[in-house]
Amino acid sequence: MTELRVGLLGLGTIGIGVARILIEQQDLISRRLGKQVRLVAAADRVLDRDFGLDLSGVRLSSDASEIVTADDVDLVVELIGGYEPARTFVVTALEHGKHVVTANKALIAKHGEELFPLAAAKGLQIGFEAAVGGGIPCMKALREGLAANAIESVYGILNGTCNFILTKMENEGADYADVLKEAQALGYAEADPTFDVEGIDTAHKLSILAAMAFGSKIKFDEVYTEGISKITAADIASAHEMGYRIKLLGIAKPHANGELQQVEMRVHPTLVPVDSQIAQVSDSYNAVQISGDFVEHTMYFGRGAGERPTASAVVADIMDITSGFPDGIAHLAPPMGFVESSRREIPTMPI
Ligand code: HSE
Repeated sequence: MTELRVGLLGLGTIGIGVARILIEQQDLISRRLGKQVRLVAAADRVLDRDFGLDLSGVRLSSDASEIVTADDVDLVVELIGGYEPARTFVVTALEHGKHVVTANKALIAKHGEELFPLAAAKGLQIGFEAAVGGGIPCMKALREGLAANAIESVYGILNGTCNFILTKMENEGADYADVLKEAQALGYAEADPTFDVEGIDTAHKLSILAAMAFGSKIKFDEVYTEGISKITAADIASAHEMGYRIKLLGIAKPHANGELQQVEMRVHPTLVPVDSQIAQVSDSYNAVQISGDFVEHTMYFGRGAGERPTASAVVADIMDITSGFPDGIAHLAPPMGFVESSRREIPTMPI
């Protein structure tokens, strides 16, 4: 493949970011890959608007099904978000022999168990780095850098909108509803922001992280989920007086149940000591701590939401697939230390 032709579904915040990188960084990308990545087509419901970008070389369509079946598209980038029609378009793209890259954590968390085998059966890849942690390469860390470790725990701040709200409430005494509106205006929040503030978005991401870390199935329905919508200014002030901050954490760790090891997954507001590393993560930043039996604690930090960081992760996946590396990105990681049938010491979370 000397050229990879990309079709983009969704010209919202992230879609525009992806188009921008593919156009503005074209030289850098082709120099690094020795191959061209070309945006040939893009679909959106509303095309009659200023995208703030010269899309004159791109075929624009209001019909996403045209793009997922088009002969001149090798890879489909799905940035519609949500469960449907995103799932249907991704299935159709795979059935038509196209690789898929998505930032859609809801899609992967709910339908990954259907989509990954379908892609593998067709020899295709699904890239989903942008689905967890925005611009932070935490999927790559688990798949590559930590591949020699049995993972002992994964936890972190996985939702930029909630972290933005909690930071502004604490630092500026800002009103919850006003900050949520600001997060929406900045393009951080989901189309339905209850997914953010009720912890569902964090639960989607945690279930994907846990599956990667522990080699288990994606079990979104098993995540205990509690969001930040009931946190008041008084809660934040009391936490502060006691030397704590409130952060919405997603936490996954193996949990002994008789002779079985299960993965415990929970999302809830958590008191963290003000001098801990995780408490320093403010604004829309995310942080993921992953502990492995050889590497010990590692931590990944960066912008967890918004146009440029998320688009950066999407394009990295496109580049991986274009270069043919790593072979098997389509598959969730094989077990990296999760033992179903033997009891072992469960490490204590350092928070
Ligand atoms: N709504 C998400 C967040 C976007 O605020 O983190 C990035 O996944």
